[in-house]
Amino acid sequence: MNILALETSCDEISASIVDEEFCVYSHIIFSSVDLAKKTGGVVPEVAARDAEKKMVSVIEKAMEGFSWDDISAIAVTNGPGLIGSLLVGIEAEKTIAVLHQKPLIPVHHIFGHVCANLLSSHPEKPKQKPKFPSIVLTVSGGHNDVLLWKDWDDIQILGSTIDDAAGECFDKCARMLGLEYPGGPALSRVAEMGIPGKIHFPRPMIHSGDYQFSFSGLKTSLLYFLRDFPKELTPADTANIAWGIQDAIIETLVLKSFIAVERYKIQEVHISGGVSANTLLRKRFQEECEKRGIAFRFPKNIVFCTDNAAMIGAAGQVMFQNRPQKKWNIENVQLNMDRKNFGF
Ligand code: KG4
Ligand code: ZN
Repeated sequence: MNILALETSCDEISASIVDEEFCVYSHIIFSSVDLAKKTGGVVPEVAARDAEKKMVSVIEKAMEGFSWDDISAIAVTNGPGLIGSLLVGIEAEKTIAVLHQKPLIPVHHIFGHVCANLLSSHPEKPKQKPKFPSIVLTVSGGHNDVLLWKDWDDIQILGSTIDDAAGECFDKCARMLGLEYPGGPALSRVAEMGIPGKIHFPRPMIHSGDYQFSFSGLKTSLLYFLRDFPKELTPADTANIAWGIQDAIIETLVLKSFIAVERYKIQEVHISGGVSANTLLRKRFQEECEKRGIAFRFPKNIVFCTDNAAMIGAAGQVMFQNRPQKKWNIENVQLNMDRKNFGF
């Protein structure tokens, strides 16, 4: 039972075919990251125009070797994200659903990231089903949430960022240090050459007693640190600063997530989203899970960390399989900018 999925919530346009065991048979991603590199970040209108331009060819490429009879349903990200890009994707999928008479499943972008950890790529063996309850940290440029996943279609956001997400903090700090966009991978590469502990930055909100995050103050700390730095930065200074910033971001993510792990008697911990590609974040989560004897999941394939359509296919499968009575009509598919409403 294959689902054709589409994701266009930011600057990627991606289409994928995923079966009922969450196995990925085809996966195409076009990214406008080169455009974003020129502007130092994503420009919403540019991203939407790019999505409109590439949409048809991305879907055609994903469908190569498949016929419409092989597709049981269509899934599309209906938010949250950049409105222009989302609308391009939603309208394209509505058209396909009507034309080929397929059910259309609207998928919340954050639930898509949650389901990225279910994916395997053909011909790998399907992954083991998750053990509930799990704690999931979804962390990327646009979102930063700790979720309690109680059952397939029962999930709750425990806490989120009150301002910037960790990925946004990586991107903006990298920019202040003169590193390229996207800043996460660039900053963590430079941090590897830094001296551990040489420079310390604050861990935002770690004593707030909840699962909320705030990363905008960390950006300001760096701004003032650089303003008051007594000399021109050498590459060694940049590396030490990058080490300090990365350490502050990662430790904050670890501390908050594992407070939730302790409180809810958790069986498994998952990370996903663009920042889950970070080697230090993976290492620290692995260590904390090993200490507690619980399983840890992360997207092994880096393309499943950042925005991609395969994760939307996996989330579509979860919704389709767990809500057999629901009518997946195009009338029920609208833009959903509510970060907490997953639409189950
Ligand atoms: O999930 P994603 O593709 O898009 C959003 O939904 O935002 O995540 C992109 C974010 C960017 O902020 C990027 O800097 C960050 O993920 N990122 C990383 C790494 N790779 C990507 N951050 C830290 N370390 C990495 N290795
Ligand atoms: Zn995302």
